[in-house]
Amino acid sequence: MQLNTLRTIPALLAITSLGFLAACSSPEETASTAPSEDATYNTSLNMQEVMAMVLEPASDILWDSGGWVTDASGTEELFPSTDEGWAYVRAQAAVVVESGNILALPGRAEDNDAWMIYSEGLSQAGIMAMQAAEAQNKEDFFQAGAQLYSVCTACHQAYNPDILNRFDEEQAD
Ligand code: HEC
Repeated sequence: MQLNTLRTIPALLAITSLGFLAACSSPEETASTAPSEDATYNTSLNMQEVMAMVLEPASDILWDSGGWVTDASGTEELFPSTDEGWAYVRAQAAVVVESGNILALPGRAEDNDAWMIYSEGLSQAGIMAMQAAEAQNKEDFFQAGAQLYSVCTACHQAYNPDILNRFDEEQAD
C-alpha cells in the first residue's frame, strides 16, 4: 500500500510536467495536432469491472427511477418528482451514453462487428433516457429504460450467455 502510493508520485509529476509542456506549445501547433491514430487508452479495468462498477450502477438507478409499483396500498410512481431528481437520473443516463464508448475502445471491443453495434445501441438508449429526463417525460423515460435493458440482454446473449442467466436472476429479486 505504502509503496504503491509513493510510486505514483513520480508518475503524477511526469503527468504534471507533460501538462505544462502542452500548455507551452503554440496555439497553431496545438490546433493542428489531431489525436494520434495509435493513441493509448487506459483499459486496465477488465470487462467485469467496467460492467459491475461503471455501467451497472448507473443503469440500476435508471431502472429504479422509472415505472410504477402497485401493491395493496395503491400504485406508487418510481419517477423523480423534483427537478433535482430528474437532473440526477439524467446524469446517470450520461454515464450510460459514455459507457458505449468505453466498451468500443480498442483493447475492450471484442470485434468490429456486432460488439460495436451493441455498444452504439447502449449510447443511443442513454441519449433517449437523457432527453426524456430533460423533458421530464415519464413514458419516454420508461421506454428508454426498456430499450436499455434489451441492449444489455442482446450483448450478453451474444457474448456471454452465462452472465445473462445470472443477470436475470438478480433483476428478478
Ligand atoms: C457490448 C456488449 C455488452 C453490453 C452492451 C453490455 N454488456 Fe454486460 N457484459 C458483457 C460481457 C462480455 C460480460 C462478461 C465479462 C466477463 O466476465 O469477462 C458482461 C458482464 C456483465 C455483468 C457481470 C459482471 C460481473 O461482476 O461478473 C454485469 C452485471 C453486466 N454485464 C451488466 C450489464 C448491464 C446492466 C448492461 C446494460 C446497461 C450491460 N451489461 C451491457 C458485455 C456487454
